[in-house]
Amino acid sequence: MTIVQAEWSDILTVLHESHQIWSPGLRKDQYQEYMWRQMNHPWARRNYKFFVLKHKSQVVCSCKLYTVNLASKGKQYIFGGIGAIYTMSLFRNQGFATKLIADVIEYCYNNEYDGTILFSDIDPEFYNRLGFAELGAADFGVHMPKGDMHSAYCAPNVTYVERHHIPIMISIYNKWQRRQAYGFQRSELYLHYKLGRERFLADYSTLSWPKLEITFALENAIQTGYALTERGGHNLRILELVGPESARRQLWCALVEHAITHRMHKVRGWESVAADLFPGFRMEEVLPQEMTKPCAFAPLTYTQRNWGRPMYMPFDEKLEDWMEHFPCPFLELDHL
Ligand SMILES: CC(C)(COP(=O)(O)OP(=O)(O)OC[C@H]1O[C@@H](n2cnc3c(N)ncnc32)[C@H](O)[C@@H]1OP(=O)(O)O)[C@@H](O)C(=O)NCCC(=O)NCCS
Repeated sequence: MTIVQAEWSDILTVLHESHQIWSPGLRKDQYQEYMWRQMNHPWARRNYKFFVLKHKSQVVCSCKLYTVNLASKGKQYIFGGIGAIYTMSLFRNQGFATKLIADVIEYCYNNEYDGTILFSDIDPEFYNRLGFAELGAADFGVHMPKGDMHSAYCAPNVTYVERHHIPIMISIYNKWQRRQAYGFQRSELYLHYKLGRERFLADYSTLSWPKLEITFALENAIQTGYALTERGGHNLRILELVGPESARRQLWCALVEHAITHRMHKVRGWESVAADLFPGFRMEEVLPQEMTKPCAFAPLTYTQRNWGRPMYMPFDEKLEDWMEHFPCPFLELDHL
């Protein structure tokens, strides 16, 4: 018994069941279309495989394998991104997921990948046992102070992300990424794929999936940084905030102002976004005094996420030092 690339009929068998836990507010037919579109996107046709493990010709377990490019210290690495690991409910606890993952790791090893990576939604112990190590997965939150606040900048121009933003986002991201300890490399096609998924959910999900917003930092009339955000309930979630330091400072101010305008109670994000707030772990690290003086921000709170926890298995021991790096510089859009 070994892994094989799935036929569409095998995938439908899996989706029929996995819809119950993973459909992000989509009807079954929409969920199938969501998957179909993803798999047929030009980026996915080159970089996405759907594997199944069959027992007596029945699909028992499945996963996706993405080929993703990571970069660190000026070098490029190809990683196998494993996602959507699913064992059909009738076949659980019989070692199928363990076997499938071991086979995928072997596939990657034999095909010149530099390692494998995944984002765990379950107790990481399951993947620890298979040899994966955890990278940072803390979520930060900061309550908005009550009272008047003034930004040092003009009112932020926040718009929904559109396809035409992709080239400038890639250009800003690539410059920023080179200064990070490690991270995903992005191409226009990759970002188009990622944003397409978000767009489908924003258009069809019954969960009022928030649309992604973009805010640019402008320096001498040039876009030098951008932030991606979404608003859900009273939370402003920052998914990414990239650019040189001057641009990032401008963006923090703009986002706080954006949060105030929309009466948000909290600004939240994954630890990579909070890197700017170290070492003090306070908003005062990035906001000008005239903005923070009249009303103090409470210190940041951190919680360990129990979903989307990045874990990796490098095949080259030189990459083992990533796990010591804090905060993890991955951004949420790269979640597989
Ligand atoms: C998680 C999952 C893939 C495991 O599949 P499986 O084929 O039953 O796994 P195996 O038989 O190889 O391994 C069983 C072990 O996994 C552990 N396991 C199952 N679900 C787990 C969970 N949610 N968290 C941590 N460990 C879990 C079992 O406790 C068991 O441990 P044991 O050997 O000490 O008894 C399966 O439960 C599943 O499809 N769940 C729903 C989808 C999902 O959550 N996928 C993971 C996304 S990151």
